[in-house]
Amino acid sequence: MAAAIPATLIPGDGIGPEIVDSVVAVLAALGAPFAWDRQAAGMAGIAAAGDPMPQATLDSIAATGLALKGPLTTPSGGGYRSVNVRLREAFQLFANVRPAQTLIPGGRFEQIDIVLIRENLEGYYVAHEHFVQVGDDPHAVALSQGVTTRVGCRRIVEYAFDYALRHGRKTVTVVHKANILKAISGLMLDTAREVAQAYLGRVAMNERIVDACAMQLVLNPWQFDVIVTTNLFGDILSDQIAGLVGGLGMAPGANIGRDAAIFEAVHGSAPDIAGKGVANPLALLLAAGLMLDHVGRGALAGRLRTAIDQTLNADGIRTGDLGGKATTSELTQALIARLG
Ligand code: NAI
Ligand code: MG
Repeated sequence: MAAAIPATLIPGDGIGPEIVDSVVAVLAALGAPFAWDRQAAGMAGIAAAGDPMPQATLDSIAATGLALKGPLTTPSGGGYRSVNVRLREAFQLFANVRPAQTLIPGGRFEQIDIVLIRENLEGYYVAHEHFVQVGDDPHAVALSQGVTTRVGCRRIVEYAFDYALRHGRKTVTVVHKANILKAISGLMLDTAREVAQAYLGRVAMNERIVDACAMQLVLNPWQFDVIVTTNLFGDILSDQIAGLVGGLGMAPGANIGRDAAIFEAVHGSAPDIAGKGVANPLALLLAAGLMLDHVGRGALAGRLRTAIDQTLNADGIRTGDLGGKATTSELTQALIARLG
């Protein structure tokens, strides 16, 4: 048997522990090689160690370079900064790769196959934000300063073109708002045009303004292959693209850096359904599939995706978000039976 691969496991908040338990059980049935080091973060980190991002969790990811992470709750407004954002910064996970494929035929859109690659460290997520007081209103004016660097743009666009080459994809669409945000978005577009020159004849480049792209994604999503864009646009468009393939319960994501990678679902901690045993574990399971691809175990990832397809389509076992009646544990058992 191949050697075990140490990997950090973060159950997370809300539905996190439920879907992580499901994924761990399915991966065990698959014979996935991961040796899990379970660590806390988010609200669970505060409960366990008084810190939403405990040092032990950071040390574990630094040692393994590989993590599977449940969603983490971030209180809106005041409170602490998003631990998701801080983890991406701590490990310089510059690329957020979010593939969306139709897994259930007969929905609003058939045969969707789009990979969105989102810059993960810059833009409006660097949080140089503050308020200005006017008269007696301390929050009269809100200011936010985003950051785009040429190095950051080059790194993400090259990643997108290399991804396209590695995966046999033909076109990279750069999504921007350079007509209005001439500096912060213009630098991305200019850099992308430069980078694209090196891939001429191998991967084509398209350009779309973000608002037009949002409309085109609904009118004719099949025109898109790989999309690369800045942080905030990528956040918004990846949720939209998830909607083309059945919603957030079906959308996995990979945060990739030079020295570490963290795999997660695109969705959050879903407090509205937490603890009810009805959450869809497939987004996180598909993320585990990306993690298997990442460590060179593509055959296992393929078996996993086949089992998911059989469970959804041949067995007709689906959770509520997909219009079915199955609980998390019923879906988990059905997946395990398919892997048996
Ligand atoms: P959300 O993604 O948690 O939920 C949005 C809607 O989708 C809810 O109705 C929820 O029930 C449903 N949903 C999400 N995942 C589902 C699943 N696996 N199965 C079935 N239904 C599912 O977004 P929301 O409510 O805006 O955020 C909740 C919390 O999660 C916030 O604190 C937010 O900051 C955090 N969050 C964390 C992320 C992460 O850890 N990567 C990503 C997005 C949000
Ligand atoms: Mg998001």
